[in-house]
Amino acid sequence: MFVCNCKSVTENDIKKLKGQGVGNIRELGSRCGAGTDCGSCVFWLEEILQTKNQSSNKDSLAQEAASANPGTGD
Ligand code: FES
Repeated sequence: MFVCNCKSVTENDIKKLKGQGVGNIRELGSRCGAGTDCGSCVFWLEEILQTKNQSSNKDSLAQEAASANPGTGD
């Protein structure tokens, strides 16, 4: 499901970037373009980023650690 229709960015795309350490809308926009066109998706982008921060910080740290290890497969 697209969260940002203007840039064809899905919720999974946002979560993946969050796992790579993207923590705010500005950084998200620079990485994938989400929220940089009409702006109607910004509320949802913030919801996804904040929800993940609060509920699964350990998962986020684990994903960051995994992404920092090259050669472990994609
Ligand atoms: S829907 Fe995301 S910028 Fe328009």
